This record gives sequence, C-alpha cells and structure tokens, in this order.
Amino acid sequence: MANDVKFVVTGGAGFIGSTLVRTLLSRGRVVVIDNLLTGHEANLKGVRGQIEFHNVDIRDAAALDPVIRGADTVFHLAAIPSVPRSIDDPVPSHQVNIDGTFNVLRAAANARARRVVYAASSSAYGDAEVLPKTETMTPSPKSPYAVQKLLGEYYASVFYSCYGLETVSLRFFNVYGPRQDPTSPYSGVLSLFMKHLLARTSPTIFGDGEQSRDFTYVEDVADLCWKASQASGVAGKMYNAGNGNHYTLNQIWKLLQQMEGVSLPSNMAPPRAGDVWHSQADTAAAIRDLGHSPRFTIEEGLRRTLEWYRGAA
Ligand code: UD1
Repeated sequence: MANDVKFVVTGGAGFIGSTLVRTLLSRGRVVVIDNLLTGHEANLKGVRGQIEFHNVDIRDAAALDPVIRGADTVFHLAAIPSVPRSIDDPVPSHQVNIDGTFNVLRAAANARARRVVYAASSSAYGDAEVLPKTETMTPSPKSPYAVQKLLGEYYASVFYSCYGLETVSLRFFNVYGPRQDPTSPYSGVLSLFMKHLLARTSPTIFGDGEQSRDFTYVEDVADLCWKASQASGVAGKMYNAGNGNHYTLNQIWKLLQQMEGVSLPSNMAPPRAGDVWHSQADTAAAIRDLGHSPRFTIEEGLRRTLEWYRGAA
C-alpha cells in the first residue's frame, strides 16, 4: 500500500487509539484527532514526530471536515467511555458518543472516505442469557453508554445504506493492555487491578466478583481494526471484537496475585448500576469474514501489561 494513504484515527491519543496508531504507521500517513479529554499526548511518546496531531473535539463538526478531507480510512475510536460515567454524567457522553459519532460519519461521507471502522461496544448485548454473545442476538442495552454505542452502530450502517459510505462496526469486549489510564474511578477494571497490585493495596470489587468478562488484549483489537478496514464484503456490518474466552474478576485478581507472589484480599462493594453480569464474544463471524486471529492468551496479555505498568510506575 502506498505510503501516502491517509488514515485518520479519532481518539488516537487514547489507550486503544494510540496502539492502533502504532499499527498503522508502516502502512500510511497517520492523522490523529483527539481533544485530550481522556487521551494523553504521552500515549503518543515515541511516535509523535511521525504523525499529524489535531486537538479537535468531535462535537465540533466544522473543525472535523478539513482534517478528515482526503482520508482513505477513518478509524473512529473517540468517545467518552465507561458505563458508570454515562449514568453519573449522561450529557457529555451523549453528546460525544452520539452527536460526535454522527459528525465523524458525516465528515467521512462528505470527504468520500473509502471506509470508516467504528469502535462499538459489547455493552450493547446487556444481560442476554446465552453465552457466547453472537452478532445476531437482539441488543439489550442497560446503560446510557450502551445505548449511545449501539446508536453509533445503527448510524454507521445507515450511512452505508443511505450514503454509500462503507462502514464496519466492531463491538470491543473489555480491552486491556499498556497505556490504559488507571487514574480515574471510571478506569477499566484491569488497569485498576494493575495499579493496586504494584502498590500492594487491595482493589475494590463491585458485587461478588463472579461477573465475567471477555478481556481482550489491545494489540489484538488494533490488528482487528486494521483487518476490518481491508476486508471485502463487510460494508455496513457489525462484528464482535473479543477473544472468545471469559474470566471472572475473582479469577483474574487471583491470577495477578500469583504472578506477583502476594496475597491481597479484595474489598467488596455493592454491584454497580448498569453492570452486565457475563460477557463473552462469539468470534466465529469475525474469524470468517475479517480474518480475526487473536494472538494473546490472558496470561501473556496480563504479563505484558503488568510489565508496562511496572516500567511506567
Ligand atoms: C463496558 C463494556 C466494554 C466497554 C467499556 C467502556 C460490557 C460487558 N463491557 O465495560 O465493552 O469497552 O464498558 O468503558 O458492558 N469493577 C470492579 N472494581 C473496579 C472497577 C470495576 O469490580 O474498581 C467491575 C465492574 O463493576 C464490572 C467489571 O469490573 O463488573 C468491569 O468493569 P469496567 O472495567 O468498568 O468495564 P465494563 O463496564 O464491563
């Protein structure tokens, strides 16, 4: 692929976006859009000189157009994440995750971009009884965040059917890995576990810890974003971006303590509103249509992540 192909990554200074940026660097010209609300320029350390960075808020439609113009692919990862944050403070997450997504899709359609890959969320499934969760299941969102991310999928699909903009939605399943920010109460649980493990303090587990997640290593998700941008016959569709396994919080916390040879019993707190109980991806469709092939076992992913936090501490 010619090196002047332009890729735009919204949320490119975020945890997942900054990993995707590194995946794209050898494949073309990378342009990052980020307002640094939950992203950090430090996430781009070492690659900052090789990319074009725009401090733009995706709520600002007029500012998006010139940056997206000329793009081959737009990877739309910018969002205000977190289920509880969307419950506590729903207006900003609504505006960014729904209006912002609309703005990005519109700018991509106006720019006649070849394709948009959209970061959707496994939260759309809610508490569907059956595991693993398959793309054909009826969505059942339990939180504003889940509704917002689901609506983005619908918009992505309609931008294909109505305006001919190729889109692929990937439902991310609890992504973890280096550069995930552990400093907010809304941070992903594994980043918080890492922080506590290295500080030798006890994490808080909401509920009895028997809820499970399909924890997916960030590099596997970045690889799948790339594959989704290249696959044929997938425009307008949605796929699970998970690992295909699921582990309870208790299992993961136990594993982490064993890795460090420590004993730190967790604190228990009441379950969180909007929390899904079990989550596990059926990866068959992504394997078949996108060539998904996750490379990282949970042990290997946790080991790499822990080493990164140790170095960053
Ligand atoms: C949800 C989505 C995920 C999305 C993410 C964005 C589901 C199944 N997954 O993640 O696709 O990318 O939102 O933010 O809906 N917990 C603790 N202690 C803590 C923090 C969290 O026990 O200190 C628990 C939570 O109550 C939850 C689990 O850990 O049961 C995971 O929480 P979190 O990491 O915030 O992610 P989800 O809400 O599952």
